Amino acid sequence: MPVKILMVCLGNICRSPLAEGIMASKLPKDKFSVDSAGTGSWHIGHAPDSRSIATAKKNKLDISNQKGRQFSSTDFETYDYIYVMDKSNYDNVIELAQTPEQKNKVQIILNELYPNENVDVPDPYFGMPNGFDIVYNMLNEVCDIIANKLKETHL
Ligand code: 4NP
Repeated sequence: MPVKILMVCLGNICRSPLAEGIMASKLPKDKFSVDSAGTGSWHIGHAPDSRSIATAKKNKLDISNQKGRQFSSTDFETYDYIYVMDKSNYDNVIELAQTPEQKNKVQIILNELYPNENVDVPDPYFGMPNGFDIVYNMLNEVCDIIANKLKETHL
């Protein structure tokens, strides 16, 4: 059984699809699976935002086949690690958790780089065009740390 990792943001079209693509590229596919979801329902079934697809492509990742879906409380059973992009995602996900074990699966992703600081991956949806490069660079840096930790723990 592969170790299952879920990346969560609000819309599941900007940040978490990039996080999914970046993390999947750093882990062996036979031992780990990576997915993403949004806490909101607006983009169920949608491809990632074209700006996320373009940013991924610039970095040699293809995320164009991903499909948006909404986070559900059953995801606590399916996934081993749940990484959220910001504090509001954290609050929305934790609200659906029913046990301390489920709550323990949820981490604000940048806390793996800046422990306990609760730094947000900024939502680039309404922002400047270079917001997507900023998000990519933050996620690439933290996903290196997480991937190394996961490989040490599970391989
Ligand atoms: P994401 O960005 O959470 O990084 O996917 C957003 C995308 C869409 C919306 C909000 C955030 N929206 O309100 O539609």
